[in-house]
Amino acid sequence: SESGCLSIIVLGASGDLAKKKTFPALYHLYRQGFLDSNEVHIFGYARTKISDDDLRDRIRGYLGKDAEHVSKFLQLIKYVSGSYDSEDGFQLLDKEISQHEESKNSAEGSSRRLFYLALPPSVYPPVCRMIKKCCMNNSDLGGWTRIVIEKPFGKDLESAENLSAQIGELFEEAQLYRIDHYLGKELVQNLLVLRFANRFFLPLWNRDNIANVQIVFREDFGTEGRGGYFDEYGIIRDIIQNHLLQVLCLVAMEKPVSLKPEHIRDEKVKVLQSVLPIQDNEFVLGQYEGYRDDPTVPDQSNTPTFATVVLRIHNERWEGVPFILKAGKALNSRKAEIRVQFKDVPGDIFKCQKQGRNEFVIRLQPLEAMYMKLTVKQPGLEMSTVQSELDLSYMQRYQGVPIPEAYERLILDTIRGDQQHFVRRDELKAAWEIFTPLLHRIDNGEMKPKEYQPGSRGPVEADELLAKVGYVQTHGYIWIPPTL
Ligand code: BG6
Repeated sequence: SESGCLSIIVLGASGDLAKKKTFPALYHLYRQGFLDSNEVHIFGYARTKISDDDLRDRIRGYLGKDAEHVSKFLQLIKYVSGSYDSEDGFQLLDKEISQHEESKNSAEGSSRRLFYLALPPSVYPPVCRMIKKCCMNNSDLGGWTRIVIEKPFGKDLESAENLSAQIGELFEEAQLYRIDHYLGKELVQNLLVLRFANRFFLPLWNRDNIANVQIVFREDFGTEGRGGYFDEYGIIRDIIQNHLLQVLCLVAMEKPVSLKPEHIRDEKVKVLQSVLPIQDNEFVLGQYEGYRDDPTVPDQSNTPTFATVVLRIHNERWEGVPFILKAGKALNSRKAEIRVQFKDVPGDIFKCQKQGRNEFVIRLQPLEAMYMKLTVKQPGLEMSTVQSELDLSYMQRYQGVPIPEAYERLILDTIRGDQQHFVRRDELKAAWEIFTPLLHRIDNGEMKPKEYQPGSRGPVEADELLAKVGYVQTHGYIWIPPTL
């Protein structure tokens, strides 16, 4: 069923996510030959009453400069307008899809329908009901119907479970693709290979050798223009509970039985279920000065725009190793990285000279790289030591190899039916279980975030917490990304 007619339906077609991420990703797939214009048709669906060309004009500017290919791609898109909770619109949509399927069908043709919900989660249940009722693939032709959804999946354990239950009544888990776009990033996808295909790491990757692990997300801009959305969610729901926690799973999980998506997701769930409740003295919340000046943010808001949270994994491999998740808006830099810090060398004969511990850093963005910080002899006549690195910088090592955008890769996976990089229902539940108690306390106003200056490292208390749980900063060492 992986060939034949493919209809991709983008619901919420005139919204931000669709314009900035979904359509550009589809365009890039098309440009690389993954969407065959003999098979594929794209439908935009939204409430606004506009024409096909109006929609095309709205998204054209996000697609790139190659006018000829852009035009050809845009011709694959048709627009259907309708509401999200009434049958008329969805019946019309179904009619359009079916017409396309009839016109395109060859002997072995099938009916593949991919619904991409670029919509606020509040309308997921009605939209899913309508799809189920009016728009399922024609089973005589074979094929499938799949649904792609994206966070926020609820606001806490209860609301998330509620949403899962409503959608779960309509669709099988195998039809549901919960996107976390961090799972589509090149170096996140590399984690599995890195950890399990290299003898180097196997014996070291545990509590005997690793002192602490940091998973860090920083942005050097605030909530610009998204204050209204953001204030309802905050940094923990926006970044930590999903993106960073997913990365933690891949760093900490045991080796899966095989590369089958279910085997991998089984291991991720186990890690999440082994996380202990967050301790009162192991998190720091922050809010940048000026955040509440945004007219869409309430003056009294105590929503954190920064958080450092220490997670403890209660299992044989990780007992005692703090996993420090840190995320912040309006900080001094933009980057995302995983930093694995090793313990000191026992009986160290260089102790008096050494500048720092071994660290293995995986930089997710920008400038994808992995580097291992290690101590070497300072080149020259003196017998002194210096901190240096083994550096695999992608820009240099893989010159001219384009790194696909996360959404591009994930959408291709949904077409191929590979759920490895999507969040399973039980995984989502386990993720909410970890953060819900803390989130409720923040929501109830029990927690006041510390103020920090925009453009700073965040509240000093966060650095103090890092030091307290055993992170040793290397002084005088800066990794310089190589240039071409
Ligand atoms: C989104 C968050 O999921 O991820 C945004 O809602 C954040 O607040 C974005 O800016 C970051 O994604 P990336 O790929 O730029 O790191």
